[in-house]
Amino acid sequence: MSGTDRFSYRGRDLWCEDSRIEDLAEEHGTPLYVYSAACIRDRWREVRLAFGPDAQICYAVKANSNLAILQLLASLGAGFDLVSGGELLRVQRAGVDASRAIFAGAGKQRWEIELAAKLGVRAFQVESPHEIELLSAVAKAMAKRLPVALRVNPGVAVDTHAYIATAKRDSKFGVELERAGEAVARIVRDPGLQLVGYHVHLGSQLREVAPYVRAFERVAEFMDGAEQRRAGVRHYDLGGGFGIQYGHGAAFPLVELASTLTALAASRGLQLMLEPGRYLVGDAGVLVAEVLGHKRAGDTDFVLVDAAMNDLMRPSLYSAEHPVVPCRDEGRAEAKVDVVGPVCESGDFLARGRALPRLEIGERIAVLATGAYGASMASCYNSRRRPAEVLVDGAGHRRIRRRETFEELWAGEEPTEDTA
Ligand SMILES: Cc1ncc(COP(=O)(O)O)c(C=O)c1O
Repeated sequence: MSGTDRFSYRGRDLWCEDSRIEDLAEEHGTPLYVYSAACIRDRWREVRLAFGPDAQICYAVKANSNLAILQLLASLGAGFDLVSGGELLRVQRAGVDASRAIFAGAGKQRWEIELAAKLGVRAFQVESPHEIELLSAVAKAMAKRLPVALRVNPGVAVDTHAYIATAKRDSKFGVELERAGEAVARIVRDPGLQLVGYHVHLGSQLREVAPYVRAFERVAEFMDGAEQRRAGVRHYDLGGGFGIQYGHGAAFPLVELASTLTALAASRGLQLMLEPGRYLVGDAGVLVAEVLGHKRAGDTDFVLVDAAMNDLMRPSLYSAEHPVVPCRDEGRAEAKVDVVGPVCESGDFLARGRALPRLEIGERIAVLATGAYGASMASCYNSRRRPAEVLVDGAGHRRIRRRETFEELWAGEEPTEDTA
């Protein structure tokens, strides 16, 4: 159903581990994100087992940055892949030492570099020439030698949505291989910088091993081009992007990827690093919503629910298709419907043309596989409060984010006159 048996029906009801989703919705209201701790542990073990004890697995914090999720992954031994100073402060708040983190991000600012240098991140993934100058200046001012991994763009096209393909020729990410020689020369002649690795990230929701192999081969060929491109280089970071099923298609060939890339990296004496986000947490979450009403317009039947694009952007942003199921299946006949939210945008939909059993007002649905890029991309558009989040673990569960209050929505705003 959702790529994990941690969410399943017992009789007519949908359960997450040993908690009935309907009970969680009664207790915490909707829209509500429900996560399965066991599913995250399953996925972590799967990735660790596939890549072996020597690989450095850095969870991509952007996928789901809730402090409790970070703590759960930290307790399993994860490293962390960060893309902003905010994410660095977040992992600190979760009690994680910065030495377990690598700092990527397409446009790092000076304060972010200073903070990461002060806290001692494991490596800076450098994306652009101007960033090398900034790093150099910070290293000099702080009298430090900063570890640098160069993010290169290997020019590998991948079969995924255009918005999550990051290694096409004309991408803003990384340094093109044709220009990377210059970047390496600039890094290695700087006494404040130390070239420690190479980094690529091809995109997200990939389904094949071949692009990862092609990228490695291009980087290896680049390294062969000059001694200074290899000296002191310890790791190769293959990025993230391992796809999940979203209810259809084949499972990602994780074991094949791991064995192929581990052998390739070992042949060059490089430690493997990886940055999975979605694969670790995507299947571990569902978004629960309540039916507000129905209507028909033209030839389309709409089911209006209380969750919307601000709670889950992926359908609107990437045309993503998440399975939608009733939280209690009464076995009624199915009909094709569009599941839409209350936000004032035609792009506000959670699913379109989906066969669902007839649902009455007040009944609930679960949008599956929303543990990644769900809550972390949620906004308060239309002055809607973001969903609460709960983490189920066995028979117990814990709220890990309360729904914000309306006052919190405008807490930072400065009206001309205080009307409160
Ligand atoms: C540099 C980098 N690493 C890792 C990831 C994680 O990707 P995924 O969640 O698809 O594994 C991303 C996603 O945007 C990324 O940009």
